[in-house]
Amino acid sequence: YPLEKGFPEGFLWGGATAACQIEGAYDVDGRSLSTSDIHRYEPGLNRKELVENEHTRASLAAALKDQEAYFPKRHGNDFYHRYKEDIRLMKEMGFNAFRLSIAWPRIFPQGDEAQPNEAGLAFYDKVIAEVIANGMEPIVTMLHYDIPLNIVALGGFKNPQVIDYMVHYGETLLKRYAGKVKYWIPFNQINLIQYCGFKSLGLVTDGSDNFEEAQYQAIHHQFLINAKLKEIAKSLDSENQIGIMLADCTFAPRTCKPEDVTFAMKRNRMQYFFSDVALRGAYPGSMLRYFNEQGIEVKITEADQTLLKNNTSDFLAFSYYYSRTVDAEKNTMDAADITENPYLTGNDWGWTIDPLGFYYCMSQYWDRYQKPLMVAENGFGYEDLFVDGTVHDQYRIDYLREHIKAMKEAVKDGVEVMAYLPWGPIDLVSSGTAEMSKRYGFVYVDFDDLGRGTGNRYKKDSFDWYKKVIASNGEEL
Ligand code: BG6
Repeated sequence: YPLEKGFPEGFLWGGATAACQIEGAYDVDGRSLSTSDIHRYEPGLNRKELVENEHTRASLAAALKDQEAYFPKRHGNDFYHRYKEDIRLMKEMGFNAFRLSIAWPRIFPQGDEAQPNEAGLAFYDKVIAEVIANGMEPIVTMLHYDIPLNIVALGGFKNPQVIDYMVHYGETLLKRYAGKVKYWIPFNQINLIQYCGFKSLGLVTDGSDNFEEAQYQAIHHQFLINAKLKEIAKSLDSENQIGIMLADCTFAPRTCKPEDVTFAMKRNRMQYFFSDVALRGAYPGSMLRYFNEQGIEVKITEADQTLLKNNTSDFLAFSYYYSRTVDAEKNTMDAADITENPYLTGNDWGWTIDPLGFYYCMSQYWDRYQKPLMVAENGFGYEDLFVDGTVHDQYRIDYLREHIKAMKEAVKDGVEVMAYLPWGPIDLVSSGTAEMSKRYGFVYVDFDDLGRGTGNRYKKDSFDWYKKVIASNGEEL
């Protein structure tokens, strides 16, 4: 057997973004509002405590009427107008891959139309052509937290009709970009239902008697969509690759007490559930038992089971930012409920730095599924100090270097990793807090939290560092 020594030839180095955090131009060419467009910037927010605002019918209506607030995701970093400049900067760093998402509300503004909006498609025609012309493999997410609000009004993904609407949207993209886009991720971070239920499932908290049941029914519908899109993608071109994506939520036990160890294992199963269904094609028994004990009834037909079995995903994409620790006595089964890890330090948002955790989770995924892995996001959010036209972001270089080293360790173990796509290569709006000041980029964008500034782009110290990493295929760190 050959021994793996480093990153294989053709390894994809690049960066990752989402339409609702970069594009702006929220009201042009027929685009409608989405779940992300009602996220207000909140001055003085408690960065560490924030998970996601509760969304009720009333809070949604109030946000839509709010004339005073600033909604950063409506403006992004102005990629809509500056995409050529941004793609040029990425090319200068040597990117051979770029993960972007397409905004459903640009293509089907109400989500349920029969015909797509040509003006919306025309924008992505130009962007994808530009990405390819600059030597990058486009990796496209179909839905990254921007569900058209009309779909929310229809009950979100809990409504089985929405399966057809999203499949129609996905099929439209697969056909339009056939031969141009090979890697597709239908859903960003499909498992983050506790953190991001509203923006990923389109559910309002007061829209059902049993909210947890509604979440899992909605997830079941997303699994079906994923499987149907895989079927369609392969029928169009056998080269197409469909990925399931997780936000890594691997839990470590707080102590070696058997209760903590077992609790962490059970919490991990709740996360692996999502990738188990997509990669193995069946619901695991532990989850069926959980549903039963919680009085959760998910409608799953035999035809659904066959569809899932026959259309498993091709690769596992995942994001990794920090590791999570749980304590059997203090924490519940809620994925967002974690305990502080005394061995780690973190950033202002409480996100810890744990490169070993990255190596650990990658190894777990590979050992469990033996499917290619895509690091679809990784990075360090920091309030950068912009002085004399640049940012000296050694902390970011240190974070990324250690994570790339950890990834290399996994590669040496024989783990098939196909891509490394750090989050937000050009600064963008934060998903969780809607701040501009939580920055991840190699390029600084001159906008503040209220959208004030020129929007001009400036290279940070990490720009040249990442360029060197890519040029040496991960050898010079
Ligand atoms: C991931 C999301 O969860 O984390 C991105 O897919 C997001 O959309 C990223 O931006 C970082 O989170 P945040 O809250 O720092 O933007």
